[in-house]
Amino acid sequence: MNIRLCAAFALIAALICAKPVAAEGDPEQGRQLGFTCLGCHGIEGQRNAYPSFRVPRLGGQGRDYIENALRAYRDGTRPHPTMHAQASSLTDTDIENLLAWFETSGTASDVATAEQVQAVAAAQVCVTCHGVDGKGVVPQPPVLAGQHADYIVHALNQYKEGTRTGNVMVAFAAALSESDIALIADYYASQDGLETLSK
Ligand code: HEC
Ligand code: HEC
Repeated sequence: MNIRLCAAFALIAALICAKPVAAEGDPEQGRQLGFTCLGCHGIEGQRNAYPSFRVPRLGGQGRDYIENALRAYRDGTRPHPTMHAQASSLTDTDIENLLAWFETSGTASDVATAEQVQAVAAAQVCVTCHGVDGKGVVPQPPVLAGQHADYIVHALNQYKEGTRTGNVMVAFAAALSESDIALIADYYASQDGLETLSK
């Protein structure tokens, strides 16, 4: 974690950096449980039927973000019928095991420098949390580097339209025009990072 960035955005960081260390899961149990997930997250270019966008890449995604997403799908605060169905049967232990398995599937822990952050004007505010190259500078925000561009567009539109609520992104996405979204999505998608799950 870049100390200077964290200090500069102390308010935000206090909310996000203070997460307690989670319990250890069993990656082998997670791999067995995750077999069904590969039916979508393990197939390169697999699409959500309607609306049509490619399912998000999870290989290398941050642990805290995946955990929050699964809990939100499970309790229905993040709406998506398929992911709700997938998550609703998961116990807390199942989630820990899945997280342990995901952690073996890639790394995305590079830290952006303050100099790099200043160099990217279009994504100035985003880099505070997501990093200049889309690999988060604080633990909780999802990794965007290497995510499918059309998935990033879809996610930002969900925040904008208010179908994915209850988090900081609602305010940030509201300020983006359609062309900002397209530019930012292409930028993050072109960075090295997330991969389609392969185990
Ligand atoms: C039938 C296809 C399908 C299956 C099977 C599936 N997913 Fe998903 N998953 C999706 C789609 C589509 C999304 C994007 C949903 C949205 O718009 O929020 C998603 C989103 C996610 C996200 C949020 C990613 C992000 O970047 O926001 C996580 C985490 C996730 N899935 C984990 C899992 C796990 C764990 C399993 C297995 C228990 C699983 N998924 C099984 C299709 C699937
Ligand atoms: C204050 C920190 C912060 C800032 C600034 C910020 N984000 Fe986020 N972002 C988050 C968090 C936390 C989440 C996870 C929210 C959730 O669970 O839905 C997120 C989620 C996202 C997602 C969804 C990723 C996925 O896998 O589903 C996208 C895309 C995104 N942000 C893009 C942006 C862009 C573009 C900007 C700049 C306009 C930005 N963010 C600014 C913290 C931030």
